[in-house]
Amino acid sequence: MWSLHNLLFTLCIVLRCVTTAVEVIHVTGYVGREVNVSCSYDEGYESYEKYLCKNDCGNYDVLITTSNPVINKYGIHDDKTARIFTATISDLHSVDAGQYWCGVTRTGSDIYTEVKLELVRDNCCDTVTKVQSYEGYSESVSCPYESQYQNSLKYICRGTRPSTCLQQALITSDTKSNGRFTLDDDKVSGTFTVTINNLTQNDSGSYLCGVHRNSELDIFTYVELEVQEWCCLNSIKINGTVGHPLTLRCPYPAQNWDYKKLFCKGDHRNNCTNVTSQRRFTLQDDAYSNSFLVRITELEAADAGTYWCGSDSQWRVGNYTKIQLSVVFLQHTTTENFTTILEIVGLNSTDVPDATVYVVFPARSVLLLLLLCALVIVHKYKYYKLKEAEVPISRHPPKAAEEEELSAADSHQMTTHV
Ligand SMILES: *[C@@H]1O[C@H](CO)[C@@H](O)[C@H](O)[C@H]1NC(C)=O
Ligand SMILES: *[C@@H]1O[C@H](CO)[C@@H](O)[C@H](O)[C@H]1NC(C)=O
Ligand SMILES: *[C@@H]1O[C@H](CO)[C@@H](O)[C@H](O)[C@H]1NC(C)=O
Ligand SMILES: *[C@@H]1O[C@H](CO)[C@@H](O)[C@H](O)[C@H]1NC(C)=O
Ligand SMILES: *[C@@H]1O[C@H](CO)[C@@H](O)[C@H](O)[C@H]1NC(C)=O
Ligand SMILES: *[C@@H]1O[C@H](CO)[C@@H](O)[C@H](O)[C@H]1NC(C)=O
Ligand SMILES: *[C@@H]1O[C@H](CO)[C@@H](O)[C@H](O)[C@H]1NC(C)=O
Repeated sequence: MWSLHNLLFTLCIVLRCVTTAVEVIHVTGYVGREVNVSCSYDEGYESYEKYLCKNDCGNYDVLITTSNPVINKYGIHDDKTARIFTATISDLHSVDAGQYWCGVTRTGSDIYTEVKLELVRDNCCDTVTKVQSYEGYSESVSCPYESQYQNSLKYICRGTRPSTCLQQALITSDTKSNGRFTLDDDKVSGTFTVTINNLTQNDSGSYLCGVHRNSELDIFTYVELEVQEWCCLNSIKINGTVGHPLTLRCPYPAQNWDYKKLFCKGDHRNNCTNVTSQRRFTLQDDAYSNSFLVRITELEAADAGTYWCGSDSQWRVGNYTKIQLSVVFLQHTTTENFTTILEIVGLNSTDVPDATVYVVFPARSVLLLLLLCALVIVHKYKYYKLKEAEVPISRHPPKAAEEEELSAADSHQMTTHV
């Protein structure tokens, strides 16, 4: 029975009784996604059964018919007004590529239209345009296109998946402006430009510029955006101890040596507060090392936070250091290895040859020092007694933690055991 059908089919193909003459419908889909195959038919066939088949279109080659419009990964829908039926193949795999036929069932031989399905991988692209910017800045991404697409829809999306790009577009040439995004299509030069305002590091990543086409896959260009932290020559994290002094080193570009130096506190540089008016803070320039030092005499718990060192009142990129200060309470432990850490902060930059230095006093040395001092005092006291001098004696034992010293260091982190 179905061999007769096959014979009719072959005969039909040979005799070109295919409705739309020799036209072949070319369809392209993305692997892993779905594709729509649309076939039109002549007036009068609206109520006839439509189907999609593969290979020779034998009974077992029929994938889906309008009589039973959903089977596995196939679906079919007949738009009788437009006289177009659309078969959908989802979850595309490479084996799905190849030849199909759109069929209209009728007595005698059916009507066939040939379909060629091609599959492409759902990623883009071989060439990438890299764009770099900074937090808070605006940046424009240029997407060139060929002149024939002047009037096509343009859009941009995140990621590198062409199949979902239009659906997830951040902005299209129809909307033109959406939050921080604006799209400007210059049809003369054949470039559309997407501007992103007020960048954050979250904006870093891949973007696809898309040009929409009606019967073919859209065209994409791939852009990689990198948004760097606004800031700075360097960003440093340090720990300080309550009650102890701390010196921070703020490097600046050599050409800024005669600029006014800034030191302020706040999460954001644009509304940080000048703390140098407080008595505990003193600024001292150290022109030899292209840096200034901020001394804090006695650290308080409330000093923890973010600080900004600057040498340029216009806050230009690259002229600043961000310092995140954590303040800890000195813990009293019984272990002999207990150490007091004093920190002097520098920079790991090639521009300024200095580095973070840790001066570590092991407790044992401190005890030894105290003992030594006590001995000296006792000895001197005896000496004065002997001389029967009337000089009043007022001595305090040296504090465990002395004001730290700045050591010259190379550009690597260093730990010095005293
Ligand atoms: C296929 O057609 C359906 C119905 O019109 C539509 O929702 C779907 O997005 C189309 N799929 C593709 C890949 O174009
Ligand atoms: C930029 O973004 C920040 C935080 O997201 C917001 O506070 C600020 O108002 C924005 N500025 C502009 C000009 O949109
Ligand atoms: C950054 O992106 C993540 C996920 O995309 C989101 O959850 C988060 O809220 C974003 N942060 C900001 C500051 O926009
Ligand atoms: C500061 O202290 C924290 C927790 O005690 C530690 O993880 C971090 O490494 C310290 N940072 C520095 C720069 O010493
Ligand atoms: C400082 O500015 C930032 C962003 O401009 C804002 O999010 C923050 O609330 C401001 N802080 C204060 C204390 O005004
Ligand atoms: C910060 O305050 C100090 C002391 O009041 C002042 O000398 C200095 O000029 C101020 N710095 C800035 C950048 O306003
Ligand atoms: C500091 O700012 C000046 C002026 O804008 C700039 O020319 C220079 O490159 C910046 N310094 C660094 C180290 O980026």
